[in-house]
Amino acid sequence: MVLEIKEQIEKVCISPNSVCNFACRYCYFYNPENPIFPQKSLTETDIRTILDKIYDYSVKFKLKKKIKIIFVGSGEPLLSWKEISLAMEEFRNEGKHKEIKFYMVTNGSLLSDEIVRKMKELAIIPSVSLDGPALIHNKNRFYADGNPTFDVVMKGIKVLRRHNLRIIINPTITRELIDNIDLFFKFIRKERFDKVIFGRMIDVPSFYPPISYDNYYRILKVIYNLQIKYNLKNIEIGNIEAFRKAVKGEPERTCTLIGSCCGAGTSNLIYLQREVYPCGRMFNDKNWLLGEFDQNIEFFQEKMMKKLEKYENECNDCDLRKVCVRDCILDTFSYLYNCQARKEFLKLMINELDK
Ligand SMILES: C[S@@+](CC[C@H](N)C(=O)[O-])C[C@H]1O[C@@H](n2cnc3c(N)ncnc32)[C@H](O)[C@@H]1O
Repeated sequence: MVLEIKEQIEKVCISPNSVCNFACRYCYFYNPENPIFPQKSLTETDIRTILDKIYDYSVKFKLKKKIKIIFVGSGEPLLSWKEISLAMEEFRNEGKHKEIKFYMVTNGSLLSDEIVRKMKELAIIPSVSLDGPALIHNKNRFYADGNPTFDVVMKGIKVLRRHNLRIIINPTITRELIDNIDLFFKFIRKERFDKVIFGRMIDVPSFYPPISYDNYYRILKVIYNLQIKYNLKNIEIGNIEAFRKAVKGEPERTCTLIGSCCGAGTSNLIYLQREVYPCGRMFNDKNWLLGEFDQNIEFFQEKMMKKLEKYENECNDCDLRKVCVRDCILDTFSYLYNCQARKEFLKLMINELDK
């Protein structure tokens, strides 16, 4: 018998630790006003437990889409490389990896030939948090001692190139990036990166300039136009591709900060060490806590569905409902929510498809 679920889990983030060798100014996990409460890092056995739970879920529900597991979160995942690689090796040796895709978001500073060789063997696709050229990146991404990190990150990217890996970068949309967006595009063209996934800036400390929801959608439009202006057909912009898929009726319910739709808790989970939350922004908030790392995945989904039932659905009459799928639930539930800027961007993407 095939069991039925309304939505499938598409993406699971695993944050093995809450320690980082960087101290980025805007990092929401280390925002002094709400820092993450550090827990014991995940051991190899803990990571195996999580991987097995995900495997059991994909077998039990015969999933149509392969689940994406991303090692990312509240620290630098490569500081837990020994635990990750050992757990992954065992998992592969048991042949359980075939129905799952693996990724890692890293600050890039610890990438070595040895690590990258192993990553390739384990089929973990890395992407690097590079905010742009030194002028942009070094404004915010520092080592804990205050030294800039651009050079070390580019060194890490060089190692990836040496092993013929696709170069994927995850810049966060900072004020500096917005102010120098042309320079950013010239940089990615010169560096011939393969893919760029922009991250919407959220939950920054009060000393840091925030980027509003409206400005995020405005800058996405600028990005869309610059990709055309610079004729960057060979550089995939993950965010734009995600909206194209949504408009075509094939949405990836992952996250509006990097993609097109929110899947928090129903299609998307994050393990912040041993605690499981619907989304990375919800850490420290026990109202959103779904459970512990050794519980079944469907238990988290059911719990989230119940939480969502409480909220009135105001989107039923919206003509863009089908392509929107779901906006970030934290934004939706906020007092001053207004999705006009998102709607305008969605309309742009719909018009593009009609051309
Ligand atoms: C928290 S880091 C953890 C993984 C790893 N240490 C790294 O730097 O890639 C994951 C991603 O979140 C981004 N990030 C940090 N603070 C952010 C914020 N306030 N808003 C949006 N993205 C943020 C980082 O730039 C990075 O790309």
